[in-house]
Parts: sequence; structure tokens; C-alpha cells
Amino acid sequence: MRYEVDFLVVGSGIAGLSFALKVAAHGRVCILSKGDAREGSTRYAQGGIAAVMYDSDSFDKHIHDTLVAGDGICDRQVVEMTIRQAPDRIRELVQYGVGFDRDGQGDRFDLHREGGHSEFRILHHKDNTGEEIERGLLEAARRHPNIEIKERQFAIDIITQHHLGQRVTKHTPDIECYGVYALDCDTNRIDTYLARVTLLATGGMGNVYSTTTTPVISTGDGVAMVHRARGVLSDLEFMQFHPTSLYNPAEKPAFLITEAMRGAGAVLKDRDGKEFMQKYDPRLSLAPRDIVARAIDNEMKISGRDYLYLDARPIGKQQLIEGFPTIYAKCLSIGIDITRDMIPIRPAAHYQCGGIKVDLRGATSIHHLYAAGECSCTGLHGGNRLASNSLLEAVVYAHNAAMAAIEETQNSQFKTQNSQVPDWNAEGMVLNEEMILITQTKRELQEIMWNYVGIVRSDLRLQRAFDRLNLIFRETEDLYNRSVLTEPLSELRNLIACAYLIIKMARARRQNVGLHYSLDLLQH
Ligand code: FAD
Ligand code: SIN
Repeated sequence: MRYEVDFLVVGSGIAGLSFALKVAAHGRVCILSKGDAREGSTRYAQGGIAAVMYDSDSFDKHIHDTLVAGDGICDRQVVEMTIRQAPDRIRELVQYGVGFDRDGQGDRFDLHREGGHSEFRILHHKDNTGEEIERGLLEAARRHPNIEIKERQFAIDIITQHHLGQRVTKHTPDIECYGVYALDCDTNRIDTYLARVTLLATGGMGNVYSTTTTPVISTGDGVAMVHRARGVLSDLEFMQFHPTSLYNPAEKPAFLITEAMRGAGAVLKDRDGKEFMQKYDPRLSLAPRDIVARAIDNEMKISGRDYLYLDARPIGKQQLIEGFPTIYAKCLSIGIDITRDMIPIRPAAHYQCGGIKVDLRGATSIHHLYAAGECSCTGLHGGNRLASNSLLEAVVYAHNAAMAAIEETQNSQFKTQNSQVPDWNAEGMVLNEEMILITQTKRELQEIMWNYVGIVRSDLRLQRAFDRLNLIFRETEDLYNRSVLTEPLSELRNLIACAYLIIKMARARRQNVGLHYSLDLLQH
């Protein structure tokens, strides 16, 4: 089937939905989602969204905290623009119907604090902020007559001049995007979606690693598509590991224990119940995430243990049950009463700071292609993202990209080359019955990345990962060239591409900075 719209949005998380709601007054919008539209990292976000809402805080302080967490390599112009826009974007979320908790009188937002923040500035909805944001935005998008949401449609590749038979390399100056090819996961048919503007909002790539807080859909599809289309990517060595995921080995994804708990008074402890963060940073349990994750990793290695503890008891019983109901219920369901017991925790891959390189308008290096949310790299996070700046970045860049896309569609004569774009060619392919090849390779990949390209790296570990990955890459490309494309095979190829890019960028970074830490390098 062939479809043609004004605005094509790949992804129905906070970034995709925010963009769609803004452009919908200016043309027909189609949102593709590879699974259920609700599924993505957004709905799992716990802590909240950072913004300066009152005079007790200041833009300068939030800017300073972001720059410090980013370890000196954030783009200052981006940081200033994002943080100054935050209050407007928060007010819009509220207008769309998103509810944030308010204080006792109900006239001010109740604000939390998280690691690396010098002030209480995290707007939240209990400990399930993301679920509330996803609900509010999705309901608003479903009500809009110009927005169509298509679930179980898996975008495979961006359509460029390459598909018109022209040679496209990373040096081709004017690569153009005409839309995407997408697999209908129910019929296994590959459809052609053509659009005047395309936005990638495909989220993160946590599933490159064996332990991650991100949902199974986070397989770096947008980044891999742009890589194949020869677009510009950046900063992928900066994978953020969240210090405190619940230690419950059989569970995937790993359940998050929000940093807001540490902001409220919870303390990290070793297996003997002793505090240890004083050995690593004067900010103790509330130091930025890269420092805390490395400290936990080190303590686990020294003691040979698989997990440490977060002691949430200082928060007090009532505040724990009322303020953190999701975590309280989850832990109780596996026999841990957080009002009495310490919580077993370990770090988990959580957030990709790098991604598809975009400018201040959210425009990528490929014409008519924008990116927003976790799949993009704006320069806000530098070497390490400050907690709760990710939802903020997503709404700010969805807004900027929407403004630029509206202007582009109003002013340009760009046509999608409709008649020249061929349909996907699956001739000669056979349906691959051997799912075990895909699941086994995925597991291997995730273990390689966890063991050699994790929180602490070295030249030898990166070399070893690269060699192992090469073999996996060749085997998978061979399978791809013979098989009818399926969602698991496509995801595996994307994960391999992302792993390759992380290793390549990690090897090129010759200084320890932010989240990139190698035993063989000097500190930045
Ligand atoms: P997502 O919400 O991940 O959505 C991605 C969308 O893309 C999905 O709809 C998916 O179906 C679609 N998609 C992907 N690939 C394809 C494809 N090939 N074809 C079609 N569709 C596709 N950040 C904060 O700022 N504050 C927090 O408190 C916070 N807590 C977090 C807690 C957890 C457990 C996790 C995992 C992350 C948390 N983060 C937090 C990070 C933040 O939630 C994410 O970075 C953000 O939600 C990403 O939004 P997004 O719109 O970019 O992507
Ligand atoms: C958390 O709630 O700890 C996650 C916040 C974030 O990832 O920004």
C-alpha cells in the first residue's frame, strides 16, 4: 500500500505526540508506532520533568546544574534555550490535560529534587509521571481530527535518493527524505509512506545492553535508519546507566527505583548496611548519575556482589506509601516492604545521550527529516544527562521542530517524488523459520555490550567487543539478505548497528568525560 501525508511521525511517545499536536492544524498527520501506541520509555518515566517555575529557583541555577552534569561539553546555547523555554512547555502539557501534583493548597506545583539538581524543581505526578504524560498527550492526539495513529507499523528505512537508484554516501551534500518504508506487523506487508516532512521520535536503544530499564521497543531504530541513510550521528559513547534499578534478575526490563527517592532522603548502602558514597563524592547519594553508577559498580566489583542497597526508610512510612505508591506496590509484590526493608539495587542501561544530530530547530543533516526526543542529539546533555532533563528536551525540541516543519511546508515547493519512489522489493526472499538464530544473537550482543562496553571500559575491552560484533554482524547480514524481513530481524540489525556506533565513538573519544570512562584514559 502507498500512503501520502503532510507530516509523518515515527513514534508515539512524548516527542512524537507533542510534535503531532502542534503541526496538526497545518496538515494531515500520520503517527506510526511499532507496538501499542502507549508503549515506549515515556510511560515508564517516574521522577518527572525539570523546570524552573518559581522565583525561589532561577534559570541560571538550572543552566549551571545541567552544564556541571554534562561535564563541560554541553552546547551552552542549547542549554540556555531549552531551560528558558521550559515553563511555556509545561503550561502547554497542562493545557493538553496532563496533571502534575500540587502542594497542600493546590496553587503551586509540588516539586521534587534529584541527583545533580541544586534546587527542588522536578514536576511530577506521584512516582508515575510518564504514564500521566503519555495518557494526556495520547488522549489529546486521539481527539484531533487531523491525526491518524497507526499501531504495529514498524518503520524499516528512511526513503532517500538511494531508493531512486542514485548513489548516496555520507559526503552526498543534499540527501532528501521522502518518507519511510514500514512493515505492517499483522500482515507482514511492507508499505510506502510518503510525506513532505518526517519526524523521527523513536526513543532510545537500552536493549543494546542485557540489563536495562528501557522497554523492549527501545532498539535504536531511528538511529540505525539514519546511519543507513548516511545522516549525521553524534555522542553515542555516552550511554547513561541509572544507578538504582531493582535487583530482580529474571525481570525485563529492570524496574526503576526513581532518583527522587534519594532526593527525599533515601541513602545508598553496601551489603553490610554501611554508607559508602563519602568515598566518591561530597554530594553523596545525590551526586550526578555517572559518578553514582561508577561508585556502585566499583563497590560491587570490590565485594564480588551482584547488588547493593538503597535504604528508603529515612523517608518515613507515610511519605513512602503516599509519595511512591508504584515503587511501594512493586517491591511489596516481590516480598520487599520498603518501609521496613532495604531495597536491593544495581545499575542498568537507562538513557542514550547521543543520537541523530539535530540543530536548534530539530532538523537533521537530511533535508525534510527532523528528530526529537531520546533518538536525537541536541547538545543539551553533553557527556551526561541531568536527571529529568530528558522529558524536558523532548517537549522543547518537539516544539522547535514543529515550528520549523510548519514553516517548511508553507514555504517550500518540495514534492515527495511520489511516482518515482518504488515499492519495497521482497522478491526471492524466504520466511526465516529459525527464530532461535535471532534470539540467541540478540542475547550474545547484549552480553558483549554489558561486559565490554559498560560503565567502565578499556581499550582491550572495546577491541574485544568490536571483534565479536564483527562476526555477529556478518552472520546477521547474511540472514537478512536471504530472509523476508520481520520485526525481530529488523530490530536485531538495528541493535547491531547501534552497538557498532557506540563502540566506534567510544574508541574515538580519547579522554574520560561524563559517562565515557576507560581505565586506559586520563580524566578530562
Ligand atoms: P519513547 O517514549 O521511547 O517512544 C518511542 C516511540 O517510538 C514508541 O511509540 C515506539 O513504538 C516508536 N518506535 C520506535 N521504533 C519504531 C519503529 N521502527 N517504527 C515505528 N515506531 C517506532 N526522563 C525524564 O526526564 N524524567 C524521568 O523521570 C524519566 N524516568 C525514566 C524512567 C524509565 C524507567 C525510563 C526507561 C526512562 C526515563 N526517562 C526519564 C527517560 C525518558 O522517559 C525518555 O527519554 C523519553 O520518554 C523518551 O521519549 P521519546 O518520545 O523520545 O521516546
Ligand atoms: C528517575 O526517576 O530516577 C529517572 C529520572 C530520569 O531518568 O531523568
